[in-house]
Amino acid sequence: MLEGVVKDKFERPILSLRITLTNRCNVNCLYCHHDGMVQSKDEMNAEELYTICKIAKKNGVKKIRLSGGEPLLKKDIVEIVEKINSLDFKDISMTTNGILLEKYAKPLKEAGLDRVNVSLDTLNRKTYEFIAKKDYLEDAKKGILKAVEVGLYPVKINMVIMKDINQNEIKDMFEFCRDNDIVLQLIELIESENCDNDKFSKDYHYKLDMVEERLSDIASDVRERKFMQGRKKYYIDGGEIEVVKPVDNATFCANCSRLRITPDGKIKPCLLRNDNLVELISHVRNGVSEEELEKIFITGINKREPYNS
Ligand code: 5AD
Repeated sequence: MLEGVVKDKFERPILSLRITLTNRCNVNCLYCHHDGMVQSKDEMNAEELYTICKIAKKNGVKKIRLSGGEPLLKKDIVEIVEKINSLDFKDISMTTNGILLEKYAKPLKEAGLDRVNVSLDTLNRKTYEFIAKKDYLEDAKKGILKAVEVGLYPVKINMVIMKDINQNEIKDMFEFCRDNDIVLQLIELIESENCDNDKFSKDYHYKLDMVEERLSDIASDVRERKFMQGRKKYYIDGGEIEVVKPVDNATFCANCSRLRITPDGKIKPCLLRNDNLVELISHVRNGVSEEELEKIFITGINKREPYNS
């Protein structure tokens, strides 16, 4: 299984590549931590993304995750997936808010996308508007159901839990998920550069420990995921809930097997740092040889080190 995999200096295998396709988004969620994003105007096209993934594949990467911003805002998203899929990865997945998914689910599936994680924190229109500042709940729901219909399996919903906002909606969301063959991921809120963090944590932070206790009481089975910081999965009443809690940096880093690409085509060795990016796309655009590109890719891997704050 680890055939051809490259390890970093700390013996961590590089198994997946997370590509932020764009910083643009059609909502503005109050908690958004802009996962690993840096500012950029200059996005990559399908051909360029193909070249990067080809290098990654040659160096043992097994899985591709496409994210944003909102990846479905890329006009050429189907072509992007099609090209990447021709490289025969084990898994291609996407994180999306689902708003444009009704239109894209089928063509994406046909292009080779394996599965989607959809960010959806509520089934209540008012709550949705409060969190996302837009009235797109129905579009997101239609998108999710379409993804299920076309078999982007397993469809997962990411629900970030916030105190006094959606903490009482877990049951509703679970029933929606169970009835539609969707896995529910409950996510504990983490601090965000978007807001005043002290106030934010005080107002909205809601610890998932109690929720987990209740889940383990009613679950028919509980399993722990080996490579995902020991996240727990609860099997309840024919449905499945996963709980994602913040972990300390040491644990996060020890488990990290992921390299990232910024929307402007730089290798990002660490989620938590922006000071060790490695320029890649300009070399692709200048037509340097694949051999040279591979060297740059390895430079990115060699810059990986456990985070010290
Ligand atoms: N806390 C927890 N999760 C977050 N996400 C984004 N911002 C935060 C935050 N502050 C995660 C959610 C969302 C995905 C795009 O990123 O899971 O669904």
